[in-house]
Amino acid sequence: MSRGYKDITGDGGSNIVTQVGEQVARLKQRMEQVRHKIAILSGKGGVGKSVITANLACLLADRGYRVGALDVDFSGPSLAKMLGVHGQHLKIGSDGVLPASGIFGLKVMSLDLLLPREESPVTWKGPAESTSVWQGTTEATVLRELLSDTDWGKLDFLLLDLPSGTERLPTVAQFLPNLSGAIIVTIPSEISYFVVRKSVTLVKEIGMTIVGLVENMAGYHCQSCGTVGELFGTSYRGEETARLLEVPFLGQIPFDSRLAECTDSGKPFILEHRDSVVTSALRGITDNIETFLEESK
Ligand SMILES: Nc1ncnc2c1ncn2[C@@H]1O[C@H](COP(=O)(O)OP(=O)(O)O)[C@@H](O)[C@H]1O
Ligand SMILES: [Mg+2]
Repeated sequence: MSRGYKDITGDGGSNIVTQVGEQVARLKQRMEQVRHKIAILSGKGGVGKSVITANLACLLADRGYRVGALDVDFSGPSLAKMLGVHGQHLKIGSDGVLPASGIFGLKVMSLDLLLPREESPVTWKGPAESTSVWQGTTEATVLRELLSDTDWGKLDFLLLDLPSGTERLPTVAQFLPNLSGAIIVTIPSEISYFVVRKSVTLVKEIGMTIVGLVENMAGYHCQSCGTVGELFGTSYRGEETARLLEVPFLGQIPFDSRLAECTDSGKPFILEHRDSVVTSALRGITDNIETFLEESK
């Protein structure tokens, strides 16, 4: 019989098997304190996953929930900036790393908060880690550390902002087997449908629950005349996409340049523009998420 990883008696003194085992146990213990873990994903880049994560986090916190937001986009972390905590220095508390603290007491964790300089990219040390096989392993380790070494405390929601592509999905499913579900973001275009459909297939294959589909950039909201016009075209709209993919439809958010401005400056759009079409759309989506979670109890 061949020897397994755990049968190796000496590991050069690093005691890595015990360390990883302890970390996995800590992750489980921490995540037991979080009622709902929700991943926001698409497969497609630039469709608004991060901006939607940031705004849903604000809305949920505004409703009195204890909310954490974790940036799982390691190569293009943007959540800390969007939530106005970019530049905060992380501190070590008695029970782990204290996440950055944002508006409404939001707890935010992102690799961006660990980078030494404004312009620093995220790099993995050594040439071995930067090859694709090792990079996947390294990124899984980083995710495990961010979940287990952060002192999240008791939370009602932990929102995970996923990167584009589908590579990170199996890792998230592995570390968070009791994820409440995934929110999938699309925009009304054939190319988005083409990519998002693949993500939905994978999400279903790995047995992740789907909370529903959000259509972003669903038309252009003109602030001067107040009307919403088409942005990309009339085909591949969210509701129809949700029907074709057999997933619930959570709602549609129009394009509003003020949302991009707030996102860039880290101001909460839902407070700056309480009466806008976008805020009411986000409120409707949050209502649907709450209903979904209530019904799936
Ligand atoms: N509905 C919207 N109206 C205006 N700008 C938007 C909207 N949704 C996203 N954006 C902008 O589009 C860009 C990409 O959004 P982002 O959330 O970073 O996408 P992703 O995380 O999917 O890559 C950002 O600059 C964001 O502010
Ligand atoms: Mg993003």
